[in-house]
Amino acid sequence: MLQTANSTSAPQTDLAFQRCINPTCGATYEANSVRTSCDKCGDLLDIDYEWDRAVLPKKLSEFEAMWNQRTNPVRFSGVWRFHELLPFVPQDKIVTVGEGQTLLQQTDSVGDYVGMNHGKLHLQYEGMNPSGSFKDNGMCAAVTHAAMMGAKRAACASTGNTSASLALYCSATRLMRAVIFIGSGKISYGKLSQALDYGALTVQIAGDFDDAMIRVKQVSQELGIYLVNSVNPFRLEGQKTIMFRILEALRWEVPDWIVVPGGNLGNSSAFGKAFSELKALGLIDRMPRLAVINASGADTLYELVERRGVRWNGGHVNMDPIREYNDLMDREGKKADTIASAIEINRPVNLKKCLRALDTMDGVVRQVSDQEILDAKAKVGAGGFGCEPASAASVAGAKLLRREGVIAPSDRVVCILTGHELKDPTATVAYHTTDQEVFNKTLGSRGVTKASHANRAIAVPNELDDIIKAIQLYS
Ligand code: F0G
Repeated sequence: MLQTANSTSAPQTDLAFQRCINPTCGATYEANSVRTSCDKCGDLLDIDYEWDRAVLPKKLSEFEAMWNQRTNPVRFSGVWRFHELLPFVPQDKIVTVGEGQTLLQQTDSVGDYVGMNHGKLHLQYEGMNPSGSFKDNGMCAAVTHAAMMGAKRAACASTGNTSASLALYCSATRLMRAVIFIGSGKISYGKLSQALDYGALTVQIAGDFDDAMIRVKQVSQELGIYLVNSVNPFRLEGQKTIMFRILEALRWEVPDWIVVPGGNLGNSSAFGKAFSELKALGLIDRMPRLAVINASGADTLYELVERRGVRWNGGHVNMDPIREYNDLMDREGKKADTIASAIEINRPVNLKKCLRALDTMDGVVRQVSDQEILDAKAKVGAGGFGCEPASAASVAGAKLLRREGVIAPSDRVVCILTGHELKDPTATVAYHTTDQEVFNKTLGSRGVTKASHANRAIAVPNELDDIIKAIQLYS
């Protein structure tokens, strides 16, 4: 579905270039080239723009005019209707499957659980994307760039959602073949089933996500396959739009907090870039604060930032504590382990960009246990908007920050629900089950001891009287 736009107001697109994030290097490369790191120093790359030549709206509310252009597939997309803020591609080259039709829900039932005043907690429900997770925001941008570059194959390593998204874009557009790398037994069935169903070439590595990530980089380089993991800076351009849609839903008012689960740290990095750019362009007057939430079984960011004091430091990141911690993990054979399989990652590839986002958004990092994640997930589900375990880390993290007094009850808080409830039914059913064996096998081994918010099925004999009695008793 390569969509051709018919708008007359297409933004200028020769403004984009790639730039090394390391300020002492700062090498630049043209946008029409394929890179996932700086040739000179090996650091991550940003997409940057010559904004002074860009034709931009004077106010963010001008984007509302795009709603009238919904018959144009580009403006229908919740990503590309903000094309002016990611102008690296001409409109007629944009790839879209209608991603980004997502909702910001205000919820007092979850707000009560977190400890917020009424009207203050919002959930950004990214599970409504075509492949069921926020990844589609970034994947449409990466696949657009891949198509511009004439790629015939695109690859990623994944804990499941990136691969589902890539597989969907490849099968829906027929532009290129998806090659996905997954760790053994580390991916939920909901996500694996998508990759298989959408026809991706699925390579199961005898290892975990971090192993798959190393391999996919090597293989992509060797075979000239286009890499779409979030080391790809174009991915993050698409993910910026999650923040634009939140502002749009809040009538262009900046919230106090954005709370997001942290895995490979692409989202948090993209959010920081989105707000930095809006501020620099004079389109917002203040920054929200950022909270990145790790699962305690995959807490590298928390360890480095909150325990070892690693900071962005104007781009001069002290790499010693990072190297020391990586060595320690190797020596002790420490492997990430959490029910939130989407964020079961030891070595987040966007670490430095996330440090930058924490710096610009006055951010904090917290870790939450699998128990806290599943309890929060049950509350989100009971509030009517289910999510997968990793997503609920944001709500559990907000609750923790409320308890600590870092978030005030009167703050306006947005938690990002990154993936759909049905991505991982195994974890959900294990939480609500009456079968102790199922509970112990799936959750007990991860330190989850109780399911305080479980909604248990009731077992009744197949007799009308018994069924009626049970319903009268429990309803
Ligand atoms: N939530 C969900 C549902 C995810 O799938 C991921 C990442 C994250 C949160 C973390 O986001 O990496 O930007 O910090 N999933 C990747 C994948 C790693 O392969 O699908 P991040």
